[in-house]
Amino acid sequence: MLNFELYNPTNYVFGKGQMSKLTDLVPQNTKILLAYGGGSIFKNGVYDQVKAALPATEIIEFGGIEPNPRYETLMKAVEIIRKENIGFILAVGGGSVIDGVKFISAAVKFDGNPMDILHKRLLMKDLTQVVPFGTVLTLPATGSEMNSGAVITINETQEKLSFGGSALFPKFSICDPTVIESLPKRQIQNGVVDAFTHVMEQYLTYPTDALLQDRIAESILQTLVEIGPAVVEQPTDYKLAANYMWCATMALNGLIQKGVPTDWATHMIGHELTALYEIDHARTLAIIGPNLYRVMFDTKKEKLAQYGERVFNVQGNSIEEKAEKAIEATVAFFHQMGMLTRLSENTEKYDGTADFIVKRFEERGWLAMGEKQNITPEKVREIVEMSY
Ligand code: NZQ
Ligand code: ZN
Repeated sequence: MLNFELYNPTNYVFGKGQMSKLTDLVPQNTKILLAYGGGSIFKNGVYDQVKAALPATEIIEFGGIEPNPRYETLMKAVEIIRKENIGFILAVGGGSVIDGVKFISAAVKFDGNPMDILHKRLLMKDLTQVVPFGTVLTLPATGSEMNSGAVITINETQEKLSFGGSALFPKFSICDPTVIESLPKRQIQNGVVDAFTHVMEQYLTYPTDALLQDRIAESILQTLVEIGPAVVEQPTDYKLAANYMWCATMALNGLIQKGVPTDWATHMIGHELTALYEIDHARTLAIIGPNLYRVMFDTKKEKLAQYGERVFNVQGNSIEEKAEKAIEATVAFFHQMGMLTRLSENTEKYDGTADFIVKRFEERGWLAMGEKQNITPEKVREIVEMSY
């Protein structure tokens, strides 16, 4: 097992009816910015619950944070905070709103061009240089409610870039599983596949001696396989909703990443497909992930075989046979979760995608990705072309 530090200061407040705790969780006598997305919170009652819990708080509202939040939109909120003497931000929404708020939080006091936070992938570590924030989660998927990372899209350059740092953990996150009742099926499917792939990025590498980490990762994967298809059909079933929400948080709150190598190349390539074609984040992962496992088969085959045996009960006479079956079981699960696993099924114009992505990665100096730093531009090309 590798050495590690585990730091996670987020107060994670889970369960039905927990919204009333907002009253005490937000700082008193502080003007807050309530940030939200396209308006789902007005239709499903979440906005009313938030307002009911904060009767005495001075609130300025900022809506319109898009899925795949845009730098250009977020900078408008930055201006409002600078002008209005706001001391706390409350993100009410899914990963996009929460990520957007992380960027806003980092940009308000940033001395320089805030775009550098993204282009230079700056690490925000100084708590005095960010605006504190909390979240009310409405879509289990990204883990953003309990981690310190975010992904922001710059419209002008069609780039989707990640950043973060230990100062960007939410102070608290209210996670009430009943919020999923109003989610479109597509978003629940996305949430399950995103969480599943987060685990894979931190687990499906090569064997280390992190026995407990493997078992924790496998238990999240098994739970998602067990409940994923059902929660899409029955979002009002509290048992399913609660387990789905907790799995999504556990998949990316930092715990399973400790002591092990990680990959993340599926995400890095997937972000390009969203930036280019607006394909939902999770759907890009379902397109790229299995082909990355195929192209990087020699690096990953031991872990693939273990995953196949433990998560999908595959059997075979060799590591290779089990590993191949594990990839097929993954694709079958993604199909069951409503994913279309070919790029051409998700966008009509995809010619030249591989060339574009390879050129971009080369320009950024991303020449060696993955747990063994052996995902070269040529491998990226092979993975993307295999995904057409
Ligand atoms: O904008 P509103 O009106 O709220 O509608 C949203 C949006 O249209 C809707 N929605 C959310 N909660 C709802 C609801 N509709 C009805 N009822 C509810 N309870 O769902 C749509 C999608 O929302 P979004 O926040 O975009 O989805 P998600 O949570 O999947 O977030 C995706 C974003 O997170 C990033 C992705 O790249 C993408 O930009 N990620 C962030 C990560 C992180 N911070 O650690 C890691 C992930 O890998 C991911 O990259
Ligand atoms: Zn993801």
